[in-house]
Amino acid sequence: MLIRPRRNRKNEVIRSMIRETSLTPQHLIAPLFVIDGKDQNIPIKSMPGYSRLSIDHLIIEAKELYSLGVKTVALFPAIQDSLKTSDAREAFNDSGLNARSIMALKEAIPGIVIMGDVALDPYSSEGHDGLVDPKTGEILNDATLEVLAKQAICEAKAGVDIIGPSDMMDGRVGFIREALDQEGFKNTLIMSYTAKYASGYYGPFRDALDSAPKKGDKKTYQMDPGNGAEALREAALDEAEGADILMVKPGLPYLDIIYRLKQNFALPIAAYNVSGEYAMVKAAAQNGWIDHDKVVLETLTCFRRAGADIILTYHAKEAAKLLNA
Ligand code: PBG
Repeated sequence: MLIRPRRNRKNEVIRSMIRETSLTPQHLIAPLFVIDGKDQNIPIKSMPGYSRLSIDHLIIEAKELYSLGVKTVALFPAIQDSLKTSDAREAFNDSGLNARSIMALKEAIPGIVIMGDVALDPYSSEGHDGLVDPKTGEILNDATLEVLAKQAICEAKAGVDIIGPSDMMDGRVGFIREALDQEGFKNTLIMSYTAKYASGYYGPFRDALDSAPKKGDKKTYQMDPGNGAEALREAALDEAEGADILMVKPGLPYLDIIYRLKQNFALPIAAYNVSGEYAMVKAAAQNGWIDHDKVVLETLTCFRRAGADIILTYHAKEAAKLLNA
């Protein structure tokens, strides 16, 4: 035999010298859930090891992440039911929980990069990402854009570096870009949830925010899991509308979409390793069915191999600890 691929796997020095893919804490973004109050750390049942944090605890958590090299966080406020309305006006309250969390984090950790979520579901009494027509139940695209733009400006004023529209309304990236520019926020990035699928993997996240749709599902705005070419269409639109980073969500079952976007676009690609993917790893590990740490690092490495420059993951802290060890 002249050719023996095993020679290149002979020992760890050789393996790590030729490894095609790198994974470091700076590739990771940690999503964090924030609630009102003081000294609150409320575990999320379907996300073992993950909690909703009041702002004081949020700062402690973000400081730890920062010192481990995870310097970007994505904030998701879980607001009280009494503040949820059909027009979702709490979404652009300049003194609401979201704006206060952003300001507090920026003050406590000046170097931190914050990504703000733009979508109405955490603030909507209907649990939808867009406004709902009370008569027909239709999710109203163009009327929603106005609210999303206000939400983005509210977050930019509070100090976010990156706007993350997760709503999947048509035309929102361009609409938000123009609104930001008009208000002087030319340097605020947009990381678009470009290919966001109507997925069963979001269940634990909706538990965390208590944000499940009251009626119907999200299939008229989120993408059909059977479609790949449509992701290229969405990506072309987002690129033309001024998106700075394209995201694919969920992650693991959609590695082919990550790969296709990476091959077809010059923009950085992000992957969202979502709550249901996290919950599955935790559940199997708790049962002793898989080796937790191995699976976490393997999963994140595979996102990078598929073409993700950036990974949003609830494993960010534990992965950073393993990578720094
Ligand atoms: C909604 C939103 C969702 C997630 C992020 N933003 C859920 C949904 O579309 O219902 C899911 C994230 C996760 O599951 O980790 N705007």
